[in-house]
Amino acid sequence: MQTRPATLWPVQTLTQPDPALTRGCVLVPTMGALHAGHASLLRLARKIADERSVPAVATVFVNPTQFNESADFDRYPRTLEADLAMCEAAGIDAVLAPDAEVVYPPDDPVPVPKLPPVATQPGLEDHFRPGHFRGVCQVVSRLFDLTEPSAGVFGEKDWQQLQVVRAMTIAQGRGVEIVPGETVREPDGLAMSSRNTLLDKAARAKASGIAAALFRAASRKTPAEAEDALRRVLRERGIEPEYAVIRDAETLLDAGEGPCRLLVAARVGGVRLIDNTPWMPA
Ligand code: PAF
Repeated sequence: MQTRPATLWPVQTLTQPDPALTRGCVLVPTMGALHAGHASLLRLARKIADERSVPAVATVFVNPTQFNESADFDRYPRTLEADLAMCEAAGIDAVLAPDAEVVYPPDDPVPVPKLPPVATQPGLEDHFRPGHFRGVCQVVSRLFDLTEPSAGVFGEKDWQQLQVVRAMTIAQGRGVEIVPGETVREPDGLAMSSRNTLLDKAARAKASGIAAALFRAASRKTPAEAEDALRRVLRERGIEPEYAVIRDAETLLDAGEGPCRLLVAARVGGVRLIDNTPWMPA
């Protein structure tokens, strides 16, 4: 890495890609509105980057192509100054915060990679947010092209996204290692999310029911019992989920003999929240 020049920003901030600065880095792609969950991903990237003597880099870009409701895109929190300060505090070397025209040049369409099968398993994100993973795969692929990382850190909070990005990256033969980062929770269990700031007081209190249901279900002995417990606790907490299911952790097909994941999506006070937790066969 070059010595960081004095800039207006607390951390070296790029609005244009600069592969000379980022090549081989450990990358944390984000949409900004960074919170303690992201801070943990940034610190993990820093640690791995130190072990490998490569830069730790983050991207901040609110990707329009992964939102299937324009209102959701419009109200997505944008907090660039605070995001850069958090990247600085985590020891990130450089942040790429490009304008939309840099990611999606108007005269040079960015291809959408072939979606891996795990992206479209029935009854999950793809059903409720059609096109979402198309946009995620498109932007992640593009950000990888712009920064040329050796590893990418993705949060387990977006479990389905993590599986989709990993499968896509393997299929592309990119040689980018996909590293999972643990979910960080509020004291009452609510998974940290940029969307939590959109919850009003009543919705915020109710939202903790999602984690409560996941943790109760995780201790059940069979997949069927776990799924029943998950739905029962959500009902008790007044939460009507879009889905509340147990699936194979990697393929997202029906639960089998291997490690599983309990997965929930629910709208609470008009805000769509997702969360998950592991379930292991005895
Ligand atoms: O998880 C996110 O914040 C986004 O989906 C990602 C991976 C940065 C792509 O825009």
